[in-house]
Parts: sequence; C-alpha cells; structure tokens
Amino acid sequence: MAKSLKIALVGAGHMGGALAAGWLRTRRGGVAPENLIVVDPAPGEAAQGLIETHGLVHTDALTLEMADTVDIVVLAVKPQSLEQVATSLSPLLRPDTALVSIMAGTTLSRLSLAFGDRPIIRAMPNTAAAVGAGVSVCVANAAAEPLKPAVERLFKTAGSVEWLRDERLIGAVTAVSGSGPAYVFLLAEALAGAGTAEGLPRELAERLARETIIGAGALLAGTDKSPQELRRAVTSPGGTTQAALDALMGSGVGLPELVRNAVSAAERRSRQMGNGGRER
Ligand SMILES: NC(=O)c1ccc[n+]([C@@H]2O[C@H](COP(=O)([O-])OP(=O)(O)OC[C@H]3O[C@@H](n4cnc5c(N)ncnc54)[C@H](OP(=O)(O)O)[C@@H]3O)[C@@H](O)[C@H]2O)c1
Repeated sequence: MAKSLKIALVGAGHMGGALAAGWLRTRRGGVAPENLIVVDPAPGEAAQGLIETHGLVHTDALTLEMADTVDIVVLAVKPQSLEQVATSLSPLLRPDTALVSIMAGTTLSRLSLAFGDRPIIRAMPNTAAAVGAGVSVCVANAAAEPLKPAVERLFKTAGSVEWLRDERLIGAVTAVSGSGPAYVFLLAEALAGAGTAEGLPRELAERLARETIIGAGALLAGTDKSPQELRRAVTSPGGTTQAALDALMGSGVGLPELVRNAVSAAERRSRQMGNGGRER
C-alpha cells in the first residue's frame, strides 16, 4: 500500500536523504520513484544522487497542484524551520494529507498547532536507514491511528519499526537510537586511534577498527543472545579481553557511566529543543 501513496519529502539533507535511499532500495514494499517528490532548494549529496538515478520529481517548494496529489508529507527539516515551513506548506495541503515528522524534540501538539488538525505521526529514524538497517520509533495522534500500518510498511523498507504510546519517551529514543550511530562511529575512531598509539600503521588500525565493529554488529544480528552473553563468551578470565574490559568498566568513570551521561545529555537536549531551543 505504501507503494501507491504519494509522498513529499520536505527536507532532503542527511536524514531525509538516508530515508529516501532506504525507501527506494527495494521495490518490494518500498516507494516507487514516481510516488516520491523531493522538496528542498538544496538537497544533500545523497538525495541529489537519488534524484538523478531514479529521475525523482524535485522542487524547491510544492505548488498547490503538486500538494493536491500528496498523501503523506514527511517533514525532515531542522526543528527551527518548523514555523517557516508550516506557514508556506500548510495552506496548500489537503485536510486528509498526513504529516510524518522526524524533527527531534518537536511534539505532536506543536505540529498540530503548526499544521492544523490532521493525521500526524512523529517518527525518530536513524541514518542506518540508508542501507535498510535503520530503526524508526513512531508515535501517532488519534487521527493517524488508521494510517499506522501504511507508515509502518513505509519505514520498514528502511529497517525496523517500533511504536510508542507515550510520546514523552521519544526524547530517550532520540538519545539511544536516533543519535546512536554517532556513538558507534566514535568508538571506531577511538579504537583506531588506540591501535595507532600502540604502533599500528594508521590505515591498518582504521581498517581493523571498522571491520571489528561491522563483524560485532553482524554477530549481534545473527543471534538471540544478549550483548552481555556475547561479551562474556569472548572474555577468558585473566586474558587480554579481560584486561581491556577491566579498564573500560573498572573504577573511575567507565564506559557504562560515560554512555549513561551521554544518553542523558541527548535526552535533555531533545527536551530543550521541544521548548524552542535550536538544533545547530
Ligand atoms: N541526522 C540524524 O542522524 C537525524 C536522526 C533523526 C532525526 N533527525 C532529524 O531530521 C531532521 C533533519 O536533520 P538532518 O541532519 O537531515 O539536517 P540537514 O542535513 O540540515 O537537512 C535538512 C534539509 O532541509 C532543507 N531545508 C531547509 N529549509 C527547507 C524548506 N523550507 N523546505 C525544504 N527543505 C528545506 C535544508 O536545506 P539547507 O541546508 O539549504 O538549509 C537541508 O537540505 C532534523 O529535524 C533532525 O532532528 C536527524
């Protein structure tokens, strides 16, 4: 069904481009190129590539005629652009056109103030959507209940989908999975840096760090075991892994506490943005 819905992607930067790449990756359940309009005066590199490869309709701004054909607007601009986008877009949309917003910190009630009473879903994806391995967490207003299966099918083409009943938890979701890929990239950087410090050539250290994280992800993907079980299985008492984990988890500020602080800072930031703070 997602296939036959006409979608306007408003904002085709990093995240909008990643989502569009996920939707277009597969014809099965994905979005047919003729059903996707990219609305962005200056799309990012990934989105520009998709526009050219798939011959997508691309416009700086929707016209009334275009807007009349749109079933779902996916809003992927920065949260501080909400008012400006809503002022120009809202009068053009049919009353039954649904809105799916991926903007961090922007609540259903703010969206409905800006775009009027209509089906609205907040979704928090992450950039792994570009390779079909994202995770999106969604929450719907009452008017969007009937649309949930179609939106779930749409976002499933870019990875897995979870639903929340309590919108207040979306800040925590943003802090764990929305921003999460960046934490893993930092781990890859840190691991490569540490390997270089131990004398490995930089390029080799970078390759080892990258392949190790890809391999660990694949192990996680291929098992029902918990991360804790997987970690314990590769940690011989008194061995090399144990020595490293003692440093990572030992006294002082260990990795679990650092991650706890990081996620808490991101969750706080998400709430500030909900209160009008800008995303830089
Ligand atoms: N990046 C992530 O990992 C991630 C994850 C989850 C959610 N999000 C959310 O996704 C949203 C977009 O983030 P991003 O990282 O993709 O930002 P971004 O790369 O800056 O993309 C935003 C895009 O929207 C364009 N734009 C600005 N005003 C517009 C308008 N009036 N009409 C159409 N397009 C317009 C921007 O163009 P200009 O560059 O010319 O301004 C830019 O291409 C944010 O609200 C963020 O909270 C991001």
